This record gives sequence, C-alpha cells and structure tokens, in this order.
Amino acid sequence: MAGRIPDDIIMQVRERVDIVDLVSGYVPLKHSGANHLGLCPFHNEKTPSFNVNSTRQIFHCFGCGVGGNVFSFLMRMDGIAFPQAVRRLAEQVGIDIPKDEPSAFEVQRRQEMERLNKIYEVATDFYHQLLLDDPRAAQARGYIRRRGFDSEAVRRFRLGYAPDGWDALANHLKQQGVDADQAKELGLIRSGKEGRPDYDMFRQRLLFPIDDMFGHVVAFGGRVLDDSLPKYINSPESALYHKSRILYGLFQAKNEMRRQRKVVVVEGYFDHLALVQAGIENVVATCGTALTTDHGRVLKRYVEQVVLLFDQDKAGQKACFRGMPILLQAGLQVLTLELPEGDDPDTCVNREGAEQFNQRLDKARSAIDYFIEVKLNEAGDNAEQRAKAVNEILIMIRHVPGEIEQDLHLTPLAAASGVQTELLRRQLERTEIPKEPVRRVAPTAVAPPQQEQPPAHGDDDYTFVADNSDSGGYADNDYHGNFGNQNQVAAKARAVKPVTDSKAHRWLLSVMLADETVSSTVVEKGLKTFFDDAVYRYLAEQIAQAWQQKKQPGEWLLDHCEQPEQQALLTQILIQGKELPNENIEEIFGDCQLAVARSQLKQRRAELHALMREAEHSGDLDRQTVCLQELTQINRQLKSRIV
Ligand code: CTP
Ligand code: MN
Repeated sequence: MAGRIPDDIIMQVRERVDIVDLVSGYVPLKHSGANHLGLCPFHNEKTPSFNVNSTRQIFHCFGCGVGGNVFSFLMRMDGIAFPQAVRRLAEQVGIDIPKDEPSAFEVQRRQEMERLNKIYEVATDFYHQLLLDDPRAAQARGYIRRRGFDSEAVRRFRLGYAPDGWDALANHLKQQGVDADQAKELGLIRSGKEGRPDYDMFRQRLLFPIDDMFGHVVAFGGRVLDDSLPKYINSPESALYHKSRILYGLFQAKNEMRRQRKVVVVEGYFDHLALVQAGIENVVATCGTALTTDHGRVLKRYVEQVVLLFDQDKAGQKACFRGMPILLQAGLQVLTLELPEGDDPDTCVNREGAEQFNQRLDKARSAIDYFIEVKLNEAGDNAEQRAKAVNEILIMIRHVPGEIEQDLHLTPLAAASGVQTELLRRQLERTEIPKEPVRRVAPTAVAPPQQEQPPAHGDDDYTFVADNSDSGGYADNDYHGNFGNQNQVAAKARAVKPVTDSKAHRWLLSVMLADETVSSTVVEKGLKTFFDDAVYRYLAEQIAQAWQQKKQPGEWLLDHCEQPEQQALLTQILIQGKELPNENIEEIFGDCQLAVARSQLKQRRAELHALMREAEHSGDLDRQTVCLQELTQINRQLKSRIV
C-alpha cells in the first residue's frame, strides 16, 4: 500500500511529541498527582475526568472512556486518519517523512486531487463574490433576505450566485487557465453539442457550496429563486464528491458536535442555515439523500446522539424511519423531534425564534418511542395490523447494538401495544434483521438532459423542465435500504449478556503487562478460559505477542490496538498504573484466577436463570430440574469461596 510510514519514524515522532503539550493546545490542564487533569474535549462535562499521563504519554477519560496516545488524540480531535496524524505531528517536531515514500501513482493522484480542489475553489470564490456585490445578484440577495438570512450566514457558508446566461463560469475558468475537461469532470461545465460552446451547469441559482471533511468545496447544490423546477440541481458525483459519505455542514459543525457529543440532522440547506443562525452549531444536513452506513460511521466519530429533525410530512417521516436502523446499528442513540404538522425546521425556527426553538430541541425523544407510536397508530385496532406493526417495531429494536439496550425498549412497547413484555422478549430473540437487499447503485454521472442544450442565441423563451437525476428528493434508488450490514450479528445465538467482572479481568491484564511468565501461563491455559470479552482477549493476545517479540508491551500495544474500545481499555489500565510489587506477582495472579473463575460461574448462573425461565414457559420439567441442579452446585461453589 502506498503511503505507509515506516515504524521507526512513527516511533521517533511519538518520542518527540509530548502529550501534555499537545493536549494543552486544546484543553487547559492542571497538575494532579501523577496525572494532568482537564475537562474532556470528547464529551460534555462539568467536573474534569480527563487524565493525561506524561510518564506513559497517554490520555484517558474516566467519564466517557476514550483514551490513547498522541496519535489517537489528534485523530479524534481533528477527525483524521492515523497517517495524517503522524504526518502532522512529524511536521511540528521537524521530522522528515521520506519524500520518496509515496508511489509515483500516489503522487500523481494527489496532484490531480489538488488540481480538482483548486477548480472548485476558483468557482466558489467566483460565485460568492458575485452574490456579495454584483448587480446581477440583486434578486438573489433579496431572496436570501426575505427568507430571513443575513450576510454573515452568506459569508460563513460562502453562498454564491450563478448568474443568468450560459457562460459566466466557463469564461472565468478559461481566464484562470483551468482545464475545461477537468471542469467538466466535476460537473461545473458541460460540453455544447453540435459545435456549440461549452456552457455552465448552474445558471440563475443560489449556490450552497458543499465541503468535504477538510473544508474543501467538492460540490454545489443550486436552488432556483422562484417556484420553477427542478428546485435544486446538484453537482454530480466525481473524484471529489461522494454523496454517500458527505454531510452538508459537517466541517463547520464538528467541533461543537464533539463537545456536545450530539448532532442535529436536518434535510435541507435552508434548515441547516436557519438552525445555525439560531445559534445551534451542531447541525448537518443530508440534502435529500438517504442516510448511509458511511454517514453513520462519520457521525459516530464525533457524537453519541443524533437528533433527526426532518420535515413534518410523509417524505420526511419516511426518511427518518429509513435513517434510524442505519444510525442505530452504527451504535448511535437516535432521537427525533416532531414539529407542528407540515412544518420544516426552517419555517419553524423563523416563526418561533431561536429561544423557543431551542426549548423544543431539548424535548427531543427516543426515535424508537416515536416509531412505536406511529406504527401502532397506523395499525389502529385491527389485531392483525397491530401484530404486524409490533413485528416491524421489533425489527427496528433489533438494530440496537447490545441486548440490554434492546431489552429496555420492550417495556414502552409492551405498555403501548398491550403485548406482554415476556412475549415480546421471546419474539425479539427470534427476530432477525432482514437481509440487505441487493444494493442498487444510484446513477453517478449525470447525463445532461436533452432539454438542457443551450438554445440558439436569442431563443429566450427556453424553459428548463427536466429534473436532474441527482436531485436527491426521495427517489427510491437513493435509498439502498441499508438494512443490516450485520446479519451475522443478528443470527448469533442470544446468550445472556456476560456479567463480566471487568475489574478482575483488568487486574489480570495488568499482571500480564508486568510479568512475562504470567503472560505466557495465561496463553498456555487458553485465553478463552480467562476472557470471554473479545476486547479483553485481544489485548491479552497483544500483550503476549509483545513479550514474545521482546517489546515493551505498554508502548507496543498502544500502536497495535487501533479500535477505540481497545484503546479505551488499554489506557484505562495503563493510567491507573498499578505498580505491582514483583515478589507478590504469583499471589496476585492467583487472586486474579480465582476472581475470573468466580465471574465465569456468575455468568453461567445468569445463563441458567434464563434457561430456567424458558423451561418454565414451555413447561419442560426435565430441563428445569437439570438447570436447578447445576444452579445449586454453582451457588454452593460460590458460597464456599473455594473459587
Ligand atoms: N433536494 C434536492 N433536489 C430536489 C429537492 C430537494 O437535492 N429536487 C435536497 C436539497 O438538498 C434540499 C433538501 O433536499 O435542501 C430538502 O428538500 P426541500 O425540503 O424540498 O428543500 P429546502 O432546502 O427545504 O428548500 P425550501 O425551504 O426552499 O423549500
Ligand atoms: Mn424547506
């Protein structure tokens, strides 16, 4: 793979950057014992639980559990990937990352991307200046004002205006020496047919520049200033623009999203603008596209909670229900906020004002509760319809990761549907997430509709009727019904959630970190016998590997545990920094083994309780007896404290 940074350079960078310095650039820190302490930048808190340890060069938050080293801090803070974090820090401390390391292909690709970015930059600037002060944009300025937006919003989001006529941008780009073919690839310019000159894609439209993660404009959404159709034209997908990954406004919203661990998702550009103007900064827009698993992943990097604030019409509701499973499955908490019937956020905010709207926002409620209410209402009193609705709701609940979390939704469902919780629970166990339908790919390149050819000069009554195929809306091909990428998860047997005694397991990992012999003993006895949680097991495995390779496990691990859960656990262990007295290692290990054995017995006991319940329901007396016998034995063992 091109662009891989050599390990020794990564190590050098890590050694030269001081985590306390780095973090202090973002978060005020105070010395406190062995650590530095501050308010966590990754969740909202009032009392500091964010620890930075300069000896180990790691951070860990006891509030939200995140942790890692200098690289992971920067990755999270700035939403960048590992190599980028290394590069950025390398630059800061003056370490050269060898220039010859990217392949020729990679270099070429990067230059190409930069050229393309530059083209959008030129176009954005051109259209933006026009909107700010060109006489041709007077009507557009009036339109914006009428809709309640000020010039600050225009400047901040670099809104633009594409004037009437066919070649304003085409000419400008030519003057700036931009390659016409590339401008066409990006969908800014189109080829004229039959010897006619190239012409602009956007004409007489208000333009919303769409940024990528780095704040580069990669597309435009262009709205008409009246009621003509299509209401919006959007740039086609291109080397820069992949709409399934991009959310409008993310670049500006991400800091506030990270701080609040929460984002409001709206549908339209104007909704977005209206909320921002009302002082709500953590807002992004889907721009009429269906939410995708990629969107889910991107959001999950910054937030835990998503408030879906869609138009209060059928289409908006449909978009909401389609987005929910995707976001739930991404591990996000999903809330919804209803507005008065027929409203959209923009109208509502403009009518009510910022303060009242903010109060509304505080009342967002669980999207699943909303789903329950809507589905049962639709079903009415008809028993069959109600049963169908309940099943649909169970499928939705099934997308929530974590069985405990799923289970908690059953109480409200039971109350609303009148079906007993126990019955719902059994049904939920049998419910599977429907297989993902074959993904129909939305057309990417937009073939120019025939009508869009520029008319011969003077042909003034030309009207534009074609909707462009990329115009969002709720066209069905937009929704690939991303139901369940994770069928395998659903298919798994639903055992009782392990009652992992994580304290004992953490101790055990600490001992493995401190002592090579213990580490190999654990491996010999089998990691599975000690750890039933995959994250713990992975860490244990890595510790053993580090010892084998004669590496200092603490550091080695920080580089090898890339998943956030792994890093969180690791830094928690490291930062608590149990100093283990060498002479007692054996004894401590013995205690750990006992504690782990106890926790496994407790887990088995919980499983048996569940099995008993099932056996009771099905009236299976034999099974009840067998379970009871094992239970008695386990209780006796636990009580005797032999284990
Ligand atoms: N959209 C689109 N193409 C369309 C219609 C809508 O791309 N033909 C996208 C736009 O991103 C739009 C969003 O879907 O912002 C929401 O659509 P809608 O509510 O119709 O538009 P608004 O932006 O809210 O515009 P307005 O308030 O002016 O009606
Ligand atoms: Mn609207």
